[in-house]
Amino acid sequence: MDATLLTETGISIDDLAIGTMKMIKVDGHRVCLVRTSEGLHAIDHACPHEGYGLTQGELDGDLVTCAWHNWKFRVTDGVCVQGEEAVRVHDVEVADDGAVRVTVNRPDPATLRPQLLASLRSGIRHDYTGQVARDVVRLLQADSNPGELIWEAIAHGAPRAEFGWGHSIASATDCLSMVDLYEGDQRALPIVQGIMGIAENERDRPVNSLPAPASSADATAGAFRSAVEGERTAEAQSYVLGAIERGDGADELRPWFTAVVGDHHLSYGHGAIYTQKAFELLDMIGWDRASTVLPYLVPTLVYGTREDKLPYMRPFMKSLSGIDLMELAAREPLDGWSDDGTLLAALLGDQRTAPVDATLAALRSGAGVDGVLDVVVQAVSERMLRYDHAGEFDFADDFGWLDITHGLTYAHAVRWHHRQAVERGSGALPDLLRLVFFTAFLAQWTGRHEWHTRVGERHAVEPLAADLVTYGNELQRQSLLDGTTAFIVHAHAVKMSRAASLEALHSGSSLALDATARFIEAPKLERFVAATVERSIDFLNGRTQRD
Ligand code: FES
Repeated sequence: MDATLLTETGISIDDLAIGTMKMIKVDGHRVCLVRTSEGLHAIDHACPHEGYGLTQGELDGDLVTCAWHNWKFRVTDGVCVQGEEAVRVHDVEVADDGAVRVTVNRPDPATLRPQLLASLRSGIRHDYTGQVARDVVRLLQADSNPGELIWEAIAHGAPRAEFGWGHSIASATDCLSMVDLYEGDQRALPIVQGIMGIAENERDRPVNSLPAPASSADATAGAFRSAVEGERTAEAQSYVLGAIERGDGADELRPWFTAVVGDHHLSYGHGAIYTQKAFELLDMIGWDRASTVLPYLVPTLVYGTREDKLPYMRPFMKSLSGIDLMELAAREPLDGWSDDGTLLAALLGDQRTAPVDATLAALRSGAGVDGVLDVVVQAVSERMLRYDHAGEFDFADDFGWLDITHGLTYAHAVRWHHRQAVERGSGALPDLLRLVFFTAFLAQWTGRHEWHTRVGERHAVEPLAADLVTYGNELQRQSLLDGTTAFIVHAHAVKMSRAASLEALHSGSSLALDATARFIEAPKLERFVAATVERSIDFLNGRTQRD
């Protein structure tokens, strides 16, 4: 606590009638002096909600009501009895001659941290943006680590996610990665965006329990893979917990997850994307948080839609089943390989099995995983630049912007899985190759609206900057500026801007950034009520067509 001595205020107790308030300045700090029938009190003058002066409000007994939005504070201890946040109380003394002296309490930020963290947890629990924002700024000023602050939301949200965690925690991971784009107090923006996505999505949900860890002997990659495949969620979680308990680290457990997300084309690639985010997150906040982050990801992988089992993927899967992935995995990539246009044409065309043949030919000719993914990113970016967003508001068609963005973030995630496998010597290449084929499928399949509408004009984008680093950083900052109302759209803008920035640096091309810039600025469906009503009417009247 700052040892400021009692300061003469120039006020006499006789200047203040019982039941009145007065604003004074003490050492430059605005203080609200309050005289009740019980005594004299001093609290912060600025209401913690939006900073208006409390003397503009009303005093009733020992309660001050802020005039602006009705928050109420007890003057004896500063507690907020209605609203989100307490006011600070200052020491006040009346000398024998009636002179009022005040000591402004300026607690050392470090000693305040436990109290601020408790307040931040309360803000997260109640989904109060203002409280979270103020506490994050204060905690940053008290030298808190951004990862520590995001962790408060993850510790709250991951155990509460209904079917395993998803976009909110993945997006918080991207937000945490963006903190370095800001300085000082401005670092609060990505942190608060990340936290609020979780607070909003997991509010008022019960905590899901976890099973006991499996024994060390039972906790194997094979047992885990079999449990996920058999949809035995608790059993799969117990293996992860058992492995962590025996001391396995990221390098041991990453291949477990890469294997299961490569077993299926899972939820438009979300299995691969969320796994990438989980391990990136743990790299940033520490492996000691793995026993929360990883087991609560498992239900997401178990319950995710196995798209490869659905009728629309049958022709593709039939073609894929004839390919010897082991043989393909043994081929070395060729230095300087580039697509002669065949693969790109297949991905942008309308033949459902063409991507299998073209990807196979590319891999056989030395493209390697990176070479194919480069073309996938190019194709998806082209699709985004020529997407006719009039279709976004066609309620009979549930295809839209978000579907296309997955093509890019999926390819980026698979590149990450592959790089981890190559650089850390873990992960099975055949599993990774299956994922590569799935990204090729998705790149082509997200063009399906073009098959019944038309290929739109290629939209011209004015680059935000000439150099790719600045361009990508600017897009990431834009994605955090509330340009969208629906959390799910916001999360896709964040995810896409992050992935596109890294893809642009990999390829040296601005195409993925241009595509993201267009997505961020384009009209998008933000609420899904009207479309859902329309589709429900069609469904209940037997008019829905699905293939
Ligand atoms: S400023 Fe006081 S309640 Fe809003």
